[in-house]
Amino acid sequence: MLKNIVKGLEPSSTLKINEISRQLEDKGEKIFKFGFGQSPFQIPPDIVNELKNNAYQNKYLPMQGLKELREAVAKYTSIKKDYNYKFENVIIGPGSKELMFLLHVIFDGEIILPVPSWVSYAPQAVLGRNKIQLIQTKRENNWFPTGLEIEEVVLKDKNKNYLLFLNSPNNPSGQICGNLKEISEIAKKYNLIILSDEIYSELSFEEGFKSISSFCPEKTIISTGLSKWCGAGGWRLGYFIVPDSLSVLKNSINVLASETFSAVSAPIQYAAITAYTNNYSEYVNISKNILKAVGNYVYEKLKSNKILINKPQGGFYLMPEFLNKKFNTSLEMCDNILKETGVVLLPGSDFGFDKKKMLVRLSFTDFDGQNFMNQVQNGQKIDNSLILKLAPKIVEGVDKLKKWSAST
Ligand SMILES: Cc1ncc(COP(=O)(O)O)c(C=O)c1O
Repeated sequence: MLKNIVKGLEPSSTLKINEISRQLEDKGEKIFKFGFGQSPFQIPPDIVNELKNNAYQNKYLPMQGLKELREAVAKYTSIKKDYNYKFENVIIGPGSKELMFLLHVIFDGEIILPVPSWVSYAPQAVLGRNKIQLIQTKRENNWFPTGLEIEEVVLKDKNKNYLLFLNSPNNPSGQICGNLKEISEIAKKYNLIILSDEIYSELSFEEGFKSISSFCPEKTIISTGLSKWCGAGGWRLGYFIVPDSLSVLKNSINVLASETFSAVSAPIQYAAITAYTNNYSEYVNISKNILKAVGNYVYEKLKSNKILINKPQGGFYLMPEFLNKKFNTSLEMCDNILKETGVVLLPGSDFGFDKKKMLVRLSFTDFDGQNFMNQVQNGQKIDNSLILKLAPKIVEGVDKLKKWSAST
């Protein structure tokens, strides 16, 4: 009774690893949740209050989203990116993930996915019945594709339409793309469309995050939302900003939105106006300061002649590579690490890497973010003793991982 296209989709090994860790927890074992990528912080209280105040909003909202919210998002983004986005360019969706799915459904062409690639891009491309072109990236280039690597894909058939996914700061590598200009030139030369997944952009550790949209705004769909910077993944509010030059895509996504989710929950949209109107720079700066300190702690402790790792640049993740030859696949290695140490990690194969590469994704969010935030001031230097006190599971889990690596 199932369509072949669905039968072909494998359940993610993320689920398998979560299942094993639940079984271990049930047995009373201590688990270090480094597999799960969720903001450790709470939503700013005034935004939560706005949700309460708007609980009575019971009308269906316009399919593209509430005008006041779209205006707030357009203004917020125009200032950040120094470009004039209008409310007509903004589509509000129930999470950016759903909007990406609709884009896959309407787009006719090939999907270029640089590896590592976030777990949902490829299955969504399959469901959209578009061919996937994977580009294996390199550590030396921060795990992003070079212009030449993208060009090689396009030159195989210049007559096709191409949609390139670019996710910076990246899940899982934690790296920021440093060659945006080069990529934008290829996009302009071959008329590529870019989906710029900027869901972690507010959590870039250094100032001055740049989006590919600054180099080729007319080719770029910006995809982001509340989930990561505002600690509101469960609210399910994301958005696309689609430039006028791609309004054909925008109109078609709107049609599909109207035939599927209709509109995002009204109270959430009203509350989100506050999130994009008030100034949350202090909340975001403290969040970044904590994430940067915890990420750097993990990086400094793990990097060694047995573990290769790039310094984290934004978001929640690090991508260590273990230099051992004991395991056949990264999944097998993650299973072993979990059984031996209680540390949950995701295998690099989930993100498109060859399963023989001993790469893993490590999420450094297993701590009480609210408690951490309450204990530090904006701009305060966070040293190792604070991390030991406020993120003890990170310290213990990393220690276990290091010992595991040394003995393997
Ligand atoms: C890279 C990346 N893109 C998109 C999303 C989805 O975000 P949303 O909550 O807006 O659907 C996530 C969430 O895990 C993510 O890690």
